[in-house]
Amino acid sequence: MNRRNFLTLFSVSLFVSCSPILFAASYAAKPKLKSKYRKWISVGTVEELDKTGQILKEESSLGAILVIGTSKSKNLVAVNPTCTHLGCTVDWEAEENIFLCPCHASEFTTDGKVQNGPAAKPLSTYEARILLNTVMVRPV
Ligand code: FES
Repeated sequence: MNRRNFLTLFSVSLFVSCSPILFAASYAAKPKLKSKYRKWISVGTVEELDKTGQILKEESSLGAILVIGTSKSKNLVAVNPTCTHLGCTVDWEAEENIFLCPCHASEFTTDGKVQNGPAAKPLSTYEARILLNTVMVRPV
């Protein structure tokens, strides 16, 4: 084997052995798909929110969404109201400032954390804002 053949064979071997690493590195460098799912979606109007202090959208591309607050609220609260125990829809208890499950009385704080079981996992939360006359949410 002459020098030229040796270098050619060495180069091909090096390329083949490094291909999986190069492929993995290029895949990791791509923008994360998660950003695709962080788009804001509309859940209702400001008038609807101000009327009762909440909007429940039972079906959306993100799942169920319950937004609490009014147009004058400093921060809107938005959660997936599906109880993590057995799937009932939680209610907002404004006087106690909690989400209460009507089925087995699990309680969740405004940031979705379990305050009292039997539920063990928190509610999913969303980021919420008002844009012009529309209440918008997106995953946290
Ligand atoms: S389904 Fe909510 S506490 Fe059981």
